[in-house]
Amino acid sequence: MPEAGSGGFVDELSRASIKLHTREQARGGEKEAERPEERRLGKWEPTIDGYLKFLVDSKLVFDTLEKITQMAAFPSYVELRDTGLERSGKLAEDLVWFRERGYAIPNPCDPGVTYARFLEGLSENNPHRFICHFYNIYFAHSAGGRMIGKMVAEKLLDKKELEFYKWEDDLKRLLQYVKDKLNHVSQSWTREEKDHCLDETERSFKYSGDILRLILI
Ligand code: HEM
Repeated sequence: MPEAGSGGFVDELSRASIKLHTREQARGGEKEAERPEERRLGKWEPTIDGYLKFLVDSKLVFDTLEKITQMAAFPSYVELRDTGLERSGKLAEDLVWFRERGYAIPNPCDPGVTYARFLEGLSENNPHRFICHFYNIYFAHSAGGRMIGKMVAEKLLDKKELEFYKWEDDLKRLLQYVKDKLNHVSQSWTREEKDHCLDETERSFKYSGDILRLILI
């Protein structure tokens, strides 16, 4: 079992992910920005309709991840249950808040439905590749996701902080707990299985980028 704070395989996942950011998104990012959601947040012009689409599609993705770990087609998923990072319930509360203020809540649209379906299939067939998506989705939300939430709150919501951006425990502690779990789960993997997991980072950025772009529609 890795000690708290030790690098382990999560460090490799982290490095693979940081590289795929654009230079405008994060320090260490190596890509040039090509699409609107890849530019620095200061340049974003979000809309409430777009943000609601993003929240609804994000909820579908988190619902799916949380169902997959509860059903646990592979024993390793049991370790990733009830970590405290779950977002589905928080997003449900936020959507009630918007509905109470007269906003129509849209149905999930193509980017969320496509990613959720993809995750369901992958989780049943390839736990190594699935775990890359699990890591990227939860850790992206704890980093860039929070920066996006703050920017939208300032521009559109009179600084209202949504439940999506609140955790029951200290976030750093929760992230460390999940890093330790991921390091434990991947401890017995072969180098080839680890590489399959890392290879999936690009696809994770593609699917999440499609959902992020909804904010700017
Ligand atoms: C970390 C920004 C999109 C995955 C970070 C960090 C920043 C950032 C600044 C570093 C946080 C730190 O050093 O503590 C952004 C912005 C985005 C964006 C502004 C979009 C506008 C994405 C996407 C993904 C992603 C689409 C993949 C689904 C991650 C992950 C980490 C991270 C996994 C944590 C890496 C680690 O373990 O340290 N992001 N990001 N990000 N981001 Fe993003």
